[in-house]
Amino acid sequence: MRKNIVAGNWKMNKIFPEGIELIKEIKEKSKELQNVKLIVAPPYIFLNEAGTILSDKQIGLGAQNCSNKINGAYTGEISPEMLTSTNTEYVILGHSERRTYYNETDELINEKIKICIDNRLKPIICCGEVLQEREDNKHFDVIEKQIHGMLKDISEEQIDDIIIAYEPVWAIGTGKTASSEQAQEMHQFIRNIVSKLYNNETANNISILYGGSCKPTNAKELFSNPDVDGGLIGGASLKANDFIEIAKSF
Ligand code: PGA
Repeated sequence: MRKNIVAGNWKMNKIFPEGIELIKEIKEKSKELQNVKLIVAPPYIFLNEAGTILSDKQIGLGAQNCSNKINGAYTGEISPEMLTSTNTEYVILGHSERRTYYNETDELINEKIKICIDNRLKPIICCGEVLQEREDNKHFDVIEKQIHGMLKDISEEQIDDIIIAYEPVWAIGTGKTASSEQAQEMHQFIRNIVSKLYNNETANNISILYGGSCKPTNAKELFSNPDVDGGLIGGASLKANDFIEIAKSF
């Protein structure tokens, strides 16, 4: 069954005590929510403590990245097994900032998706075009290529654990949001790709989130579209009130 999801991507923000306070505040304020699954993805070093605070799993805990290796001599990397040992259930993979600043390719992201699913982590996989690609009318081709690359050799059983996030790069952190029509059009296109790669049922069940300057003032309109199942929220997820307000938009 398709779920409504609002996930917070904290990126590289907050120091440890501030982050823990924010987790507690979100947990407290989320009690009034219905009909939506909340996920928070703080930086790695917050996960262990956050996993204890969120141990009842009412709010899902996510990481922002993960290694493509199981274990061993990979200095500075964090493995899927390390994440699950802290109650982390989700992992954001292929965010445009990882693609742009750390040269992550669809091939690498595909490796990470496989190893994460093998280790019981649910990937939130990201796709999105840059402004020039949209202006050149290439956005559908770009998204199709990213989705095909990321889902290469992912089985029908494995896809059930995946959440897709459409994040037009030109809307991330810029204050520019895709219009409701642009979001719906692309989400429907993505659902069609999933239907062709797998089947109708899988496509109907997969949650597709919108990301890019989503905030309390525009979430309701974006989420009212039939193929928009929630949001991946950056800036606005750093304030408990805004994050909860967005989640109330369903
Ligand atoms: P933003 O970021 O909400 O700050 O635009 C979204 C994201 O990058 O996931």
